[in-house]
Amino acid sequence: MYNDDKKSKIVRQNRKKEHIEFALKAAAESNGSNGFSDVHLLYEALPELNLDEIDTTLCFLGKRLNAPLLINAMTGGHPEVKYINRSLAKVAARAGIAMAVGSQIAGLEDPDVQDTYKVARDENPNGVLLANVSALTPSVMVKKAIEMIGADGVQLHLNVAQELAMTEGDRNFKGTLANIERIVSFSNVPVIVKEVGFGLSRETIKKIYDAGVHYIDVAGKGGIDFIKIECMRSGQDYLGNYQNIGISTAASLIGAHSLNLPLGIIASGGFRGGSDVASALALGAELVGIAGHFLQVLFQGAEYGLNERVDRIIDNLRRTMLMVGASNLKELAGKPVIITGSTAEWLNWRGIDI
Ligand SMILES: Cc1cc2nc3c(=O)[nH]c(=O)nc-3n(C[C@H](O)[C@H](O)[C@H](O)COP(=O)(O)O)c2cc1C
Repeated sequence: MYNDDKKSKIVRQNRKKEHIEFALKAAAESNGSNGFSDVHLLYEALPELNLDEIDTTLCFLGKRLNAPLLINAMTGGHPEVKYINRSLAKVAARAGIAMAVGSQIAGLEDPDVQDTYKVARDENPNGVLLANVSALTPSVMVKKAIEMIGADGVQLHLNVAQELAMTEGDRNFKGTLANIERIVSFSNVPVIVKEVGFGLSRETIKKIYDAGVHYIDVAGKGGIDFIKIECMRSGQDYLGNYQNIGISTAASLIGAHSLNLPLGIIASGGFRGGSDVASALALGAELVGIAGHFLQVLFQGAEYGLNERVDRIIDNLRRTMLMVGASNLKELAGKPVIITGSTAEWLNWRGIDI
C-alpha cells in the first residue's frame, strides 16, 4: 500500500540500497537447498550430437534470446545503485539474455531517480527488459512503470513473507488478486506474477491463472531469504524462526508444471550453475531467473566477472544438454527427470504425480 509522505519515500529509496548490502551478506551464507540436488537428468552415453550445434536460443515475449536466462529483479530507485543496473544491462545485452529492473515504486514517486531504471533500457535498447512493481500497485501506475523503461513485460511481485518481516512493511493484503485482474486488463504488455523467494503453490498459481495471467515466476525457496534480509536491516534476531516457511524452487516448479495450464513458467530461486538450469528447463521452465548469485559475482568480479559467469552457465547448459541427448530446448523439455529425497517426499504428500 502507498504512504505518499516524504519520509516514506526516503525510507523506500534507502531500502533499495540496504537490500543490496544485506543481500550480499545473506548470499554469503547458506539458505538451504532450492531442491535441485534432488533433481537428476538421465545421462545419455550415445547422444549422437555435436557440442557446436547445441542450440540454446528461444523466442521470449516476441524477441530472440541467446539463452533461456533472466537477470531477475533487484534494483533501481537510489542514485547509488544506478551503476548496478547499468552493469547488469550491459551484461544482458552482450549475452542476449533477459533482464528485469527492481521494484519501480521509488521511481514512480520521485522522477529524480527514474534514471536509475531507465539506464537498463539505454544500455540494452533491443533486449527483453521487464518492469517490476508490487501486485498491489494501482494499474495507472503500473502503466507508467512500463512506459518508464519501454518494458516488454511487467513483473508483479507477491512478497507477503517479506512485508511481514519488514518493520515498515504492509500488513493488509486484501484485494491483491482483484488488483492483478485489473492490471491484466489495463496492461499493453504481458504480465508475469512472481514471488521473491518463498515459492508459489499450485493453489496460488491456479488463482493467478484464473485472473488472466499467462506467465509466472515461482521464485522459490533456497536462494535469497528476504525474512533474513529484513531481520538484518532492522536488527531483529532471525534465529531461523521461519525456516519452514516457503516452497522450494524445485517443488514449486514441478507443482506449477503439473497443472498443465497454458502458462509460461519462469523458474528462479537459488540457481548458480548450468546443470540445475538444464534440470529446470527439463521440468517445464521456459526461462531461469537468477538474482542473488549474479549480484554477488558482480560485486566480486565486476562486469568482466559477471560476463564470464553468464558465459560459463550457458556453456554448462549446452554441455548438459548434450549429455542428456537434447540438441535444443524443445528436446530438453521432453527428457526424463528423476526426483529423489525430500522433494519427492514433498510432492508425494501434495499428491503431485512425478
Ligand atoms: C538485492 C535484491 C533485491 C531484490 N529486489 C526485488 C524487487 O525489487 N522486486 C522483485 O520482484 N524481486 C526482488 N528481488 C527478488 C529476486 O528477483 C528473486 O526473486 C529472488 O532473489 C530469488 O532469486 P535468487 O535466489 O536467484 O536471488 C530482489 C533480490 C535481491 C537479491
